Amino acid sequence: MNVCIVGTGYVGLVSAACFAEMGNTVTCVDVNPDVVKTLQAGKVHIYEPGLEELVRRNYAEGNLIFTTSLAEGMERAQFVFITVGTPSRPDGSCDLCYVEQVAREIGQHMHKPVIVVDKSTVPVGTADRVRGIISDELAKRGVDIEFDVVSNPEFLKEGDAVNDFMKPDRVVVGTESEKSAEYLRTLYAPFARSREKMIVMGVRSAEMTKYAANCMLATKISFINEVANICERVGADVRDVRIGIGSDHRIGYHFIYPGVGYGGSCFPKDVKALINTAHEYDFRPELLESVDNVNDRQKLRMAERILDYFEPQGGVAGKTLAIWGIAFKANTDDTREAASLAMIKELTAKGMRIRAFDPVAGEKVKPLFENDPLVEIVDKQYEAVEGAQALLVVTEWNQFRTPDFDRIKASLSAPILFDGRNLYPPSMMAELGFAYFCVGRPD
Ligand code: UGA
Repeated sequence: MNVCIVGTGYVGLVSAACFAEMGNTVTCVDVNPDVVKTLQAGKVHIYEPGLEELVRRNYAEGNLIFTTSLAEGMERAQFVFITVGTPSRPDGSCDLCYVEQVAREIGQHMHKPVIVVDKSTVPVGTADRVRGIISDELAKRGVDIEFDVVSNPEFLKEGDAVNDFMKPDRVVVGTESEKSAEYLRTLYAPFARSREKMIVMGVRSAEMTKYAANCMLATKISFINEVANICERVGADVRDVRIGIGSDHRIGYHFIYPGVGYGGSCFPKDVKALINTAHEYDFRPELLESVDNVNDRQKLRMAERILDYFEPQGGVAGKTLAIWGIAFKANTDDTREAASLAMIKELTAKGMRIRAFDPVAGEKVKPLFENDPLVEIVDKQYEAVEGAQALLVVTEWNQFRTPDFDRIKASLSAPILFDGRNLYPPSMMAELGFAYFCVGRPD
């Protein structure tokens, strides 16, 4: 089949590469000529395991085409996927300017029937809005072309996106048209092999499904973080509690790891956007508001503990903290809404010096701190701890899981370790002589 994908971020590029891998011809359109040039050179501008190889191979075979021209992309396309960003506005609502701009251009370039597929995460009602914009553009041109706007939300996790696309738990398609549903069934057949994996529903229900899924997952994380905070105070161990509750199959073990709060481009934005939508409809979503507040608090929890620890020693001003991990989670270079950044802001405001290392995101955040004399981003893991007063682990990169504790101890001015991800056993840390602080466990 012939597919056009507009926007080459995580979602767009992964979808394009996976569709191309199954023999479809996929044209990726991006407004940024530098991104298009990078992709044409066989390089990928984002870090996503397995993606570069897929892109390079399919580009070489001619299944993937990169261009800045939507007209070229739409020339033979049966589907046009919208996979552009939907950032948050300061009030938490979803900014649809990019989606609307693409919709206008689709209307301007459409010359034959096409299925427009909304894959960006957009508030309920957006597909109808996109349909309206395209119809207006067609009317301006005085042409009448059959098209449908379908909602097909993505459920990819950064760091595992190729795998998630290739073996999805489900493919949700929102459309009132049986013909569009059949076309999408064919396109997704190699991925959603069993028919039950393809779930067809109304367009608004599909849009809502995406938000409900992310809000449910975010709720699980805020819930376990709340439990962890209570565990710390009552002398319980959240690791045991997690296993104790997870063994009930209605609860399950997945996605209830306490930590530094959820970050990334999805959960914080989507929880806020659904809260905003509810407000627009005069409904106060109290549970979601709490999920959001609990998360904001959790992001600063470790910073709070660091401030408390150093308080009796004259505070943190002038002291140096080593940080391991800047990305919002492991296996990604993404630092959007990362807890590390919230903590750095909090601690530097109190005069603390930061020396941070991240195996992949480090290079990317260097410009952020170029003019900040208190923050240094270093290229080597152990360089960060050299002479620092304490180490804080924020991201669960594999290389932090079994570090050289003797080396850390020898490098720090005192063996103090704050662990935002519960990577190490407290008993072992005590034996090694560390003052060790983690999440939801007795210190
Ligand atoms: C999330 C969803 O998992 C995807 O299904 C969805 O498609 C995607 O958002 C999206 O809407 O595009 P992602 O943001 O890549 O994917 O990251 P996750 O792996 O879900 O992690 C989100 C955050 O939760 C991270 O900060 C992670 O550290 C945190 N987390 C996750 C926990 O603190 N505890 C857990 O048990 C799990």
